[in-house]
Amino acid sequence: MEKITSLCKRRGFVFQGSEIYGGLAGTWDMGPLGVALNNNIKREWWKMFVDDREDMYGLDSAILMNEKVWEASGHTGAGFSDPLVEDTKTGERFRADHLLKDEGIEADGLTLEEIDALIIKKGLLSPKGNPLSKARQFNLMFSTSVGAQENIKSYLRPETAQGIFVNFKNVLDSMSPKLPFGIAQIGKAFRNEIAPREFLFRVREFEQMEIEYFIKEENWEEQFELLRQAIVKWNQHIGLSDKNVREFEVPENDLAHYSKRTIDFEYNYPGKGFDELAGFAYRTDHDLKNHQEHSGTKMEYIEPDGSRFVPHVLEPSFGVGRAFTAILCEAYTEDEMNGEVRTYLKLPKHLAPYRVAVSPLLKNKPELVERAREVFTILKKDFGNVAWDDNGNVGKRYRRQDEIGTPHCIVIDFETLGEEDASLKDTVTVRDRDTGEQTRVKIEELADFLR
Ligand code: GAP
Repeated sequence: MEKITSLCKRRGFVFQGSEIYGGLAGTWDMGPLGVALNNNIKREWWKMFVDDREDMYGLDSAILMNEKVWEASGHTGAGFSDPLVEDTKTGERFRADHLLKDEGIEADGLTLEEIDALIIKKGLLSPKGNPLSKARQFNLMFSTSVGAQENIKSYLRPETAQGIFVNFKNVLDSMSPKLPFGIAQIGKAFRNEIAPREFLFRVREFEQMEIEYFIKEENWEEQFELLRQAIVKWNQHIGLSDKNVREFEVPENDLAHYSKRTIDFEYNYPGKGFDELAGFAYRTDHDLKNHQEHSGTKMEYIEPDGSRFVPHVLEPSFGVGRAFTAILCEAYTEDEMNGEVRTYLKLPKHLAPYRVAVSPLLKNKPELVERAREVFTILKKDFGNVAWDDNGNVGKRYRRQDEIGTPHCIVIDFETLGEEDASLKDTVTVRDRDTGEQTRVKIEELADFLR
């Protein structure tokens, strides 16, 4: 994991948020290559879950919402809090369940009283060796105020899901979808995590890709299985190997009170082990019913025969940052090439920040540079994410492109100009990232070859 985070910084994937001012805990900035990978993840997700299906509708709702949304959803209550304890000497704050977990004690779902009792029984101290305060609930929402009078309370949304529920009726009225159908949204979410940690894994500002899939109650098991399979396909599509992904069936006694079944999709993060990548929950009609009650707006679906009911919902919820991390962990490879250790990212072609890099063999030969520029322009029109790389010698360029996961490097050399062998005129060298193999391809066939 350390190697991956250092590569991310060195090669422009991820930078510490506000770094020149000492940073801001729990925030990260995406660099030029990070934003490219992130956008590719989101584009592929949207394509698979929205564009390639007939039963999904997209949405982009506001981050700031009426505070009543969060009362109705339960986020202002204890349900969206983590148990917090303080070091009684230094005032430092910790997540009580994390401290207990570090001691091998599973503390999910315990009451504050149970946590206090365990801390006393085990003689648990703060990491600095001082006594701990009693546990209390700490709400994870960032609050803010809206308007010049600053008198309207609001929150930065802690999940994109509620934006979908509050627009359920708008989508129903404007698009007339038939059940089952889903509403999908990608966007930022914010949580004032007590202990942001482990790179992008637990942060205070992150992106989610969420679907609320509306169904008839009697079909929930069948639809749950279909969506579960779609999530498995997605994990494979982003290159995660089956051995590194597992499904954790949340035990009945740990389920949220409104959920009848939840599966956590977990990834085997290096040095950390299996932990959550995405969640998939059957949330019954809990959310729509609550919004109906609090807003007074009917959240009913009307059948052609006139019968009405509040649909039930299945919720696949993905964190972009966790997918990003898992993809990098899966892709990070070290091998030996030409007697040297090399590091490369074995990224799937549809996710790599650059699809291909183009180089002139020598940058001080105008005739090579000119021809290479022509090839670059042709490919750029076709693929978009094409890199121009003329720094250092060709060997160094290959190493650099390998390290950022560019699947192919193209070199324009004297053979391209037909100076050495007329039969090779207008051909270029295409080097494969994973095998290092080089193939000569005609310029006019390059785009098809790459595709
Ligand atoms: N709407 C349901 C929901 O938000 P969640 O399990 O709290 O459920 C869903 O979050 C996903 O969002 C998680 O599986 C994870 O990928 C991502 N996520 C949640 N909190 C996060 C955090 N603090 N940092 C990074 N990703 C987070």
